[in-house]
Amino acid sequence: MEDCTFVIFGATGNLSQVKLLPALYRLDVAGRLPEGLKIVGFGRRDWDDETWRGQVRDWLAGKATDAEVLERFCERLYFFRGDLGDEQVYPALRDLLTSGARFSPNLVFYLAIRPADFGVVSRLLGTVGLNQEDGGWRRLVIEKPFGYDLESAESLNLRLNRNFQETQIFRIDHYLGKGTVQNLLVFRFANLMLEPLWNRNYIDHVQIIHSESLGVGGRAGYYDGAGALRDMLQSHLLQVLTLVAMEPPANLDAESLRDEKVKVLRSIRPIPQSAVNAHAFRAQYAAGTVNGEKVPGYLDEQDVPEHSVTETYAALKVFIDNWRWRGVPFYLRTGKRMKTGNSIVSIRFKHPPQQLFRETQIDRLKPNWILLNLQPNECIRIEMQVKQQGLELRAETTRLDASYCGINQEQLDAYEALLLDIIEGDHSLFLRYDEVSWAWKVVDPILKVWAVERDFIHTYPPGSWGPSEADRLFIGQDHRWRNTLENDEE
Ligand code: BG6
Repeated sequence: MEDCTFVIFGATGNLSQVKLLPALYRLDVAGRLPEGLKIVGFGRRDWDDETWRGQVRDWLAGKATDAEVLERFCERLYFFRGDLGDEQVYPALRDLLTSGARFSPNLVFYLAIRPADFGVVSRLLGTVGLNQEDGGWRRLVIEKPFGYDLESAESLNLRLNRNFQETQIFRIDHYLGKGTVQNLLVFRFANLMLEPLWNRNYIDHVQIIHSESLGVGGRAGYYDGAGALRDMLQSHLLQVLTLVAMEPPANLDAESLRDEKVKVLRSIRPIPQSAVNAHAFRAQYAAGTVNGEKVPGYLDEQDVPEHSVTETYAALKVFIDNWRWRGVPFYLRTGKRMKTGNSIVSIRFKHPPQQLFRETQIDRLKPNWILLNLQPNECIRIEMQVKQQGLELRAETTRLDASYCGINQEQLDAYEALLLDIIEGDHSLFLRYDEVSWAWKVVDPILKVWAVERDFIHTYPPGSWGPSEADRLFIGQDHRWRNTLENDEE
């Protein structure tokens, strides 16, 4: 693997502390970092290399169990002091990075900063030529949100493209780094027995559900302007949907994969503004008691404006109008302050065509499900009907679990896989701009309607599965939210 230098803008911020440095450290432990990889923290604080190293040691305390690797890791760290909006500091950054042999000419610029600053940093890197791939590659990494709606995403992209080519840009959606999300591809395309069933002839509907038990915490400054639809649904859940619904790609290279994902997004039936209420539902958590503890409602959280109607819960029904999926509803749902934190993809099959068991004790035959639990446990489960033991002809549900279900395996953090891909230049798990843009097109009509309907929002008690009114999205009488692996009825 080629040496490279990671320049982290916003090095002293939360993302850097909680995700990036720990992930880079763990890659070092696993022996996956190139020997000459260096990490330059770009920040405003009056720090030098030693202070930065001390800080990172503190951040990793408790996570870093191998003192020798920790020392090796800290030796990779350098600090560059500057204000990211100050054009005077960029020549010095260029000189630091490009003169002498200390740093590899292959550079990753990781923008762990507010999206509002993406444009300025990419421009200033361009003004000093740090975007030019002369002698080494240059990669720009950005995190969602990629814009605020279709229009702002477009203008952000234009700004980035003034200085960086699409091939240099890595747009992170950390869901694509999660093991089970990648497993979706293996599960679908490495098993012949699924493919013939994976379509509208056999599948009744699909649910993609992400629930969190925590509230918005101290993030209202960002969250109140975003809401659940932008924060989770337009990004992570639509990405998961593309992997569930896509056609087998021509091969596993990044463009083939992303071409197929884009085809799914393009095939989603547009939701006219007049039909938004039939397709989307929003709500906000109220104050209440969870496990005997009082928790504030969204409106009482720090930094939330008094009459905010920002949704902390969003549900969406979409149809994919192609040969494989036409007529099959895909229900997507996300919420904060829900009963438990869990993410699951549930695929419900249709009933067998003949009601053979009608005259027997098996009155209500349950359908088959394939359940892919993304977190907290990774699990793939198939639910089937079998005969109960005994003289009567009764059925019961049996579960076929993939062998690792329930085993407390040490989980890789999504960032480890993604950072390694950046170093290796593999775009497969990063979003191409057309994916971002088509995903905005799906939710844009809803955002527009919700932006003007500001007098009322449903609420739900904390620690619940959200308001029952969301059930109005279901098109089948027997459709219910499948909240977790275990409970299908609550
Ligand atoms: C982030 C959202 O992108 O994803 C958060 O901004 C959300 O609001 C988080 O909590 C969920 O990610 P994970 O990996 O904890 O499921």
